[in-house]
Amino acid sequence: MSSEQTDDLAGRAALVTGAASGIGRAVAERLERAGVSVLAADLNPDPDGPGVAFGADLTDPQANVAAVAAAIERFGRLDIVVANAGVQHVAPIEEFPLERWQTLIALLLTSPFMLAKQAWPELRRSPAARFIVIASAHALAASPYKAAYVSAKHGVLGLVKTLALEGAADGIMTTAVCPAYVRTPLVERQIADQARVHGLSEAEVTERVLLAPQAVKRLIEPAEVAEVVAFLAGSGGGAFTGVPVTMDQGWTAH
Ligand SMILES: NC(=O)c1ccc[n+]([C@@H]2O[C@H](COP(=O)([O-])OP(=O)(O)OC[C@H]3O[C@@H](n4cnc5c(N)ncnc54)[C@H](O)[C@@H]3O)[C@@H](O)[C@H]2O)c1
Repeated sequence: MSSEQTDDLAGRAALVTGAASGIGRAVAERLERAGVSVLAADLNPDPDGPGVAFGADLTDPQANVAAVAAAIERFGRLDIVVANAGVQHVAPIEEFPLERWQTLIALLLTSPFMLAKQAWPELRRSPAARFIVIASAHALAASPYKAAYVSAKHGVLGLVKTLALEGAADGIMTTAVCPAYVRTPLVERQIADQARVHGLSEAEVTERVLLAPQAVKRLIEPAEVAEVVAFLAGSGGGAFTGVPVTMDQGWTAH
């Protein structure tokens, strides 16, 4: 780690959601290494994980309010919000349960909205505020059997664009990181579901379904996403706002 990375972010405070696993955990670790104080909010908080563990079911709008309030109370400031918590549900449209649609919209779209709404006054006070959503390549392109996920991710990109316009005058920079498939428990769980829906073996799913749309045939590592978030959170990210920051291994180049 260069001293520049540390100095850039040292002393700032962040709220990372879904921070107990996968991408969120890697982001919380990376920011903490750079000297950021991190509130690590999660449905299943890990007291041994990075940051200060905070339990919250973020499908409940008020839990998002509580998470922002806890970060400000704990650190006395809030400079960076990383809206990352997410789940997936894979089903054909006619079998897609309404309850799962509502859960995904609540977590992937309403949670970032509530986090922004609540964090905004404090972000305005930050010398370098960042609101970063971990969206997805599915914010830019669809896949079958993922009606709720694709809809919510496209929606959250709209939110990011809107917040960028609203935050510009106050220096709040808002971006949507859009990765292709990342090696996390979310993807590992999905392989079994995809195998069932597509009638394939799990090995075939990875090669023929997951990696099929990508030009580069490998999973992204969580640490690679965390590196992009750290860049966007630091001074290098100062000119990025209202945009998807796409790391899709050639998916949307088609
Ligand atoms: N893994 C991928 O391939 C991939 C690709 C693009 C985007 N993403 C996005 O990245 C984000 C993180 O995904 P991941 O792959 O690291 O998943 P993950 O399953 O490894 O981690 C998700 C975390 O969110 C938490 N969470 C789930 N429901 C919650 C709730 N109701 N309230 C609070 N926390 C809750 C889980 O406990 C878990 O710790 C998601 O928004 C996902 O859509 C993932």
